[in-house]
Amino acid sequence: MTQGKVDALLGIVFGDEGKGKVVDVFTPRYDVVARFAGGPNAGHTIIFDGKKFVLRSIPSGIFDKGKLNIIGNGCVIAPDLFMAEAKELEAAGYDLRSRLHISSRAHLILPTHRVLDRAYEAAKGKKAVGTTGKGIGPTYSDKASRTGLRVGDILRDFPKRYAALKARHEQILRDLNYTDYDISSEEQLWMQGVEYMRQFCITDTVTELNRLLAQGKNVLAEGAQGTMLDIDHGTYPFVSSSSTTTGGVCTGLGVSPRSIGEVYGIFKAYSTRVGAGPFPVELFDETSQRIRSIGHEYGAVTGRDRRCGWVDLVALRYAIMINGVTQLIMMKSDVLDGFDTIRACVAYERDGQQTPDMPFDTEGWQPVYRDLPGWQEDLSSMTSEEQFPKTFADYINFLETELQTPITILSVGPDRAQTITRHPNS
Ligand code: GDP
Ligand code: IMO
Ligand code: MG
Repeated sequence: MTQGKVDALLGIVFGDEGKGKVVDVFTPRYDVVARFAGGPNAGHTIIFDGKKFVLRSIPSGIFDKGKLNIIGNGCVIAPDLFMAEAKELEAAGYDLRSRLHISSRAHLILPTHRVLDRAYEAAKGKKAVGTTGKGIGPTYSDKASRTGLRVGDILRDFPKRYAALKARHEQILRDLNYTDYDISSEEQLWMQGVEYMRQFCITDTVTELNRLLAQGKNVLAEGAQGTMLDIDHGTYPFVSSSSTTTGGVCTGLGVSPRSIGEVYGIFKAYSTRVGAGPFPVELFDETSQRIRSIGHEYGAVTGRDRRCGWVDLVALRYAIMINGVTQLIMMKSDVLDGFDTIRACVAYERDGQQTPDMPFDTEGWQPVYRDLPGWQEDLSSMTSEEQFPKTFADYINFLETELQTPITILSVGPDRAQTITRHPNS
């Protein structure tokens, strides 16, 4: 029996690249879809048959009724938000209980983690990260401090463990002078979420996944966030708190590096970022407004305006290198329809010095652009690469040459159906 593979589908910029859409499109090719990092800070949009879903913790493979979905050990999970998300899917006719397995090692986000998230942000003042407020940083901090609670803990002596961690958080909040909060109703819902979660298969997903791989089953690892938000490789400290890269697939699912197959790197035909932090390609003019409005660039979780700019090849090269990307997927090219000129950032410049590589400190760098002719056609109605206007085909070829990696999928609209497979060598 040939051993199965874990293919990774990773956001390689600042998140919101369209991971949910492509995971949903790819799911029929796999036996299992697994999330390996992050939690309800993610918002993955899936649109098909006139319906729209935004998933936060549940993998985007859930709409294919025959497939197993796993929330892996590298994830963090908020029982109340999980319950709301799962109930919405159940109400829409998707049976989850037999098909969604949750790692007993994933960490729990407590209501007090969310208060701590707000308190730490408030204490940072102007240097605030602009988090999603979902308690992500404090939960991963507790994990690293070895004080966290894991999903498996809800099955053993839970009230005592919960009370101890909550008391610890309350003490920190008192020390921070952050006492003006009330979690009583939130906590009630959270406890209901814990009861609800008990009805799911809480298990050792590491052994389960490795057993399935040994049986020749194939797994799609669904990334959350993006490489530039990775705790090690992103624009620290303006990052999330998990490992969002291929390395994170191995630790966040408990699979060996030898099991990794394809690494799909997903990016938009332009750039966005939500939250604070360096973003050298950011535009502040009408181009930014136009991209935001046509691309609906508002956060799926928080509704905040996403910051917009041209595509950033410095960031893409860096992410391709770190992740070992084997194929690129370019999203939202349709949003650039109608521009006379489009631009690509090929290097950063500061104090007269240029770099093609990602600097340690991305503050204060200016983009060096290459201008390319745009296209006037409507890409969203196209169904094969033969229909692409020449200038768009040239844009794709330019990116492939610069990035030394094939672009094999092009998305030209939010719907499942608006996805074009390309054969770069044909
Ligand atoms: P994710 O977090 O990476 O899954 O991405 P989000 O769901 O946060 O953001 C992607 C947004 O772009 C969603 O609103 C999608 O419906 C939308 N979208 C995805 N692909 C395309 C595309 O090719 N064209 C357009 N116009 N919208 C797209
Ligand atoms: P998906 O999976 C875009 C950003 C936040 C903030 C920083 C830290 O939908 O692509 P956190 O709450 O994680 O501590 O916030 O990271 N951020 C995201 N931006 N897409 C996401 O997820 C994000 N998850 C976190 O805006 O700047
Ligand atoms: Mg998103």
